[in-house]
Amino acid sequence: MRQLIAGNWKMNGSAAMAAELAGALRAESGLACDLLVCPPATLVAGVAAALKGSAVAVGGQDCHAKVSGAHTGDISAAMLADAGASAVIVGHSERRADHGETDAIVRAKAEAAAAAGLMPIVCVGETEAERVAGLEMAVVGGQLAGSLPSGFSGVVAYEPVWAIGTGRTPTEADVAAMHAFIRGELAKLLGDAGKGMRILYGGSVKPSNAASLMAVADVGGALVGGASLKAEDFLGIARAVR
Ligand code: 13P
Repeated sequence: MRQLIAGNWKMNGSAAMAAELAGALRAESGLACDLLVCPPATLVAGVAAALKGSAVAVGGQDCHAKVSGAHTGDISAAMLADAGASAVIVGHSERRADHGETDAIVRAKAEAAAAAGLMPIVCVGETEAERVAGLEMAVVGGQLAGSLPSGFSGVVAYEPVWAIGTGRTPTEADVAAMHAFIRGELAKLLGDAGKGMRILYGGSVKPSNAASLMAVADVGGALVGGASLKAEDFLGIARAVR
């Protein structure tokens, strides 16, 4: 399967920036990977319209577990689909930390995403303290077991919390070990479906380290934060995929 390079804009961007970035992505051809951009909710419809008919997909950064109702400030997976999204990130560590999202909440959101026809991207990853304590596999294994719905179909993103926005990345050997571990857990939880599922790496991916990270076994692509905000950086990462 082709690798997926996904951009998570987080709480960044404007209509003008989105139009410029979408134009640059549209103009790119001949990439060896699939592209997905996940702008803030206010920009999803505009970016989806700007990328309509192109090979670049659009996703949300979060969704509510319910389809509709009295949940002020939230948006549902169905609303993202209606705006032109085909995917949604759920369980990002920033949502888990800032909004107290538990594995059970993430699982409900992943179920809601699938029910709305969106491809869920479920995020997992350990904190620095957990890695120092040697608990990274136990933590990630627990997050997978708790966050993935039964019969899950979608993408898993491994994002060590300490690598997000810090410029630090795990060694290639550490990425290989974790992705092999996740592959094994997915096979246990999901059977054959888990064997071919894309497992993205996220955390300080940039053009200069993308080629080596994307060449690691069982890495199915990248979830990119800061470097997804500039077309040249995001495309630089995508062009590094062979
Ligand atoms: P950075 O690429 O800025 O480290 O962010 C990674 C991330 O959290 C993507 O979801």
